[in-house]
Amino acid sequence: TNPSLLILPGDGIGPEVMAEVRKIIDWFGAKRGIVFDVSEDLVGGAAYDLHGTPLHDDTMAKAQAADAVLLGAVGGPKYDVLDFSVKPERGLLRLRKEMDLFSNLRPAQCFDALADFSSLKKDVVAGLDIMIVRELTSGVYFGEPRGIFKEGNERVGINTQRYTESEIARVARSAFELAMRRDKKLCSMEKANVMESGILWREVVTEVGKDYPEVELSHMYADAGAMQLTRWPKQFDVIVTDNLFGDLLSDLAAMLTGSLGMLPSASLGAPMANGRPKALYEPVHGSAPDIAGQGKANPIACILSFAMALRYSFDQGEEAARLEAAIEKVLADGARTADLMGPDGGTPVSTSGMGDAILAALDAS
Ligand code: NAI
Ligand code: MG
Repeated sequence: TNPSLLILPGDGIGPEVMAEVRKIIDWFGAKRGIVFDVSEDLVGGAAYDLHGTPLHDDTMAKAQAADAVLLGAVGGPKYDVLDFSVKPERGLLRLRKEMDLFSNLRPAQCFDALADFSSLKKDVVAGLDIMIVRELTSGVYFGEPRGIFKEGNERVGINTQRYTESEIARVARSAFELAMRRDKKLCSMEKANVMESGILWREVVTEVGKDYPEVELSHMYADAGAMQLTRWPKQFDVIVTDNLFGDLLSDLAAMLTGSLGMLPSASLGAPMANGRPKALYEPVHGSAPDIAGQGKANPIACILSFAMALRYSFDQGEEAARLEAAIEKVLADGARTADLMGPDGGTPVSTSGMGDAILAALDAS
């Protein structure tokens, strides 16, 4: 049987960029014999419109059973008035929570043709290819106690940074596994100088590292890490860090290389019976209501998310590289969606124009 892929296009530009991914998936089936059992369902506002909930239980069950889930984006102004419990975002949060996706992979990869686009000097970013692994389900965003409490005659806002050994160990393990498939270099970032959770983090990561003697492990305080990421990002291969620091550092690292329209992500959980990790792949961007329905969206972030699925869920690293090379070729040939252009950049290609150009480059590969 073929591996299964559940596609959830969602709202706004989600369905537009996903239509281009569908073309790419079909190409891999027809030309490379990599066939998926693809099914499609609703999430976010689209699901709310039909079912009155941003994620139907049937869809949740399909996601749990799928070998990988590929999501477009959720949300839009139409849904801003809804109660928090049925907001489109809740559909995505439910997926992440119930699939227990604790390891968030955010690559920062520079396509040479876009190196001029970075706010950093070209030689700092050209050829950059690093991966940030952010712990996604614990830490200060979830720790108890939390809330705004009365203390004497004023209020106090409280969040608690809390990590158990097993929570640290499982995300560390996923980062080491990733490092083994890459340049075998892992840098762990925390604030062991001022935080107890940071001391424990460093201890546990070091302990897990004993199972990966081939991986060169280093530790860095997260604030120093932010400096090093902007000074000379190419010193890193894989970085592993907690939820809060990972939120900041992954946004920073992502922007080293340009547009939101270029950024993929993966969220991984524990291995399933077949050995594959539970996995959700999605572009970093949202539903972009300002350009939805106009054929302006850049489909590359979503296409690169599919490339990550090929690599991390389906062991098709060479085919993922083929797809990334096709994208590099199209960019080198000058094709640009509007988000990749300066104010006087010329005529942009449309969403489907970009998808077709990538297909043509794949055909020539
Ligand atoms: P956004 O990422 O949707 O858009 C930010 C800016 O980047 C906009 O100007 C947009 O046109 C542009 N942009 C984003 N993706 C692009 C692409 N592929 N090609 C070209 N330009 C692109 O973030 P925003 O505007 O803050 O949120 C819009 C809606 O999306 C909200 O409802 C928000 O809640 C939701 N959202 C959903 C996310 C998700 O589904 N994971 C993540 C972030 C926001
Ligand atoms: Mg963020």
